[in-house]
Amino acid sequence: MGEFDGKTVIVTGGALGIGGAASLAFADEGANVTVMDLNAAAGNETVAKMDDRAGRGLFVEADAGTAEGCKKTVDATVEAFGGVDILFNNVGIQPPTSYLDAVELPEADWDRIINVNLKSRFLMAKFCIPHMRNAGGGVIISSASVQGIQSMPGVSAYAASKGGDLSLMRQLSLDFAKDNIRVLAVNPGTINTPMVHNASGVSGAELDAALVDYGKDHPIGRVGQPEEIAGVVLFLASDRAAFMTGESVTVDGGMMAKGAWAGGAGADLD
Ligand SMILES: NC(=O)c1ccc[n+]([C@@H]2O[C@H](COP(=O)([O-])OP(=O)(O)OC[C@H]3O[C@@H](n4cnc5c(N)ncnc54)[C@H](O)[C@@H]3O)[C@@H](O)[C@H]2O)c1
Repeated sequence: MGEFDGKTVIVTGGALGIGGAASLAFADEGANVTVMDLNAAAGNETVAKMDDRAGRGLFVEADAGTAEGCKKTVDATVEAFGGVDILFNNVGIQPPTSYLDAVELPEADWDRIINVNLKSRFLMAKFCIPHMRNAGGGVIISSASVQGIQSMPGVSAYAASKGGDLSLMRQLSLDFAKDNIRVLAVNPGTINTPMVHNASGVSGAELDAALVDYGKDHPIGRVGQPEEIAGVVLFLASDRAAFMTGESVTVDGGMMAKGAWAGGAGADLD
C-alpha cells in the first residue's frame, strides 16, 4: 500500500532534476503522476521508468511559461486520471546568460524567467484549484529557493521570481485554506541537477570538482541530491503534514543558518 495510492499529482518540469526525482518518488508511492516538461525525450524516459512502479505516469509536452501549456497539462491530467490532488510547482530556469544586473539584463530574459518560474505557479494553481475543490481538498508545493530568502549579485530576475514564489505561496495558503487546500514551498540549497551542471559551464572531472567546491558553501559539506528534496516534498504532500500550510521548508545542508562572517564547510567552522 503506497502513501499516495489513488492520488493524482502534477509535477511541472517533472522530467529531470528535482522534478524527475519527485515524479518517480510519487510513482513509487502509488500516485498517478503527470510529468509536464518541454523536454519530450527526458519526459517520456521518466514516465517509462514508472512502468515497474506502483503508480501510473503520463507525459505532457508543454511550456510552463504559457497559459496554453499550463491549461493543456491540467486538462490532459483530468482526462487521464479524473482529477488533480497534488500540484508540485517545480519548474524553474536560471540560464547562465541571465547572471546580470538589472541594467544589463534584457527585458525579454526578465519576462521569460518570471513567466516560467513565477507566473507558472499562478497559472497552474488557477487551473488546478477547481479540481482540488471538487475532490474536497489538495496540496500545492513550490520549488522556491534559498535565493528567495537571501541573494547574491547578478541574479535579479531569478531572485525576484523566487521571492515572488514564496509570497504567492503564502497568499494562496490564506485564500484557499477554507477549501482544505494546503500550500507550501521548499527552499533547496545547491542540488546536483542539470540546472547546476549547466550553470557551472564545465563537464566531466571539472564538473565533479565544481560540485565539491559548491558543497563547501553548505555546512554539511556537500551539495544535495534531487532525491533529498523529493523526500521533503512527499512529506509535505502527505497527511503527516496535515497541519502545515503557508510555510516554506529550507533544505540546504545548513546554508541559511550560516552568517556572512562564517567560514566554509562544516570542517572549517571548528
Ligand atoms: N538545483 C538547484 O540547486 C536548485 C536550488 C534552488 C532551487 N531550485 C529550483 O528547483 C526547481 C527545479 O530545479 P532543477 O535544478 O531540478 O532544474 P533542472 O534544470 O535540472 O530541471 C528542470 C526541468 O524543467 C524543465 N523545463 C525547463 N523549462 C521548462 C518550461 N518552460 N516548461 C516545462 N518544463 C521546463 C526542464 O526540461 C527540466 O526537465 C527550479 O524551480 C529551481 O529554480 C533548484
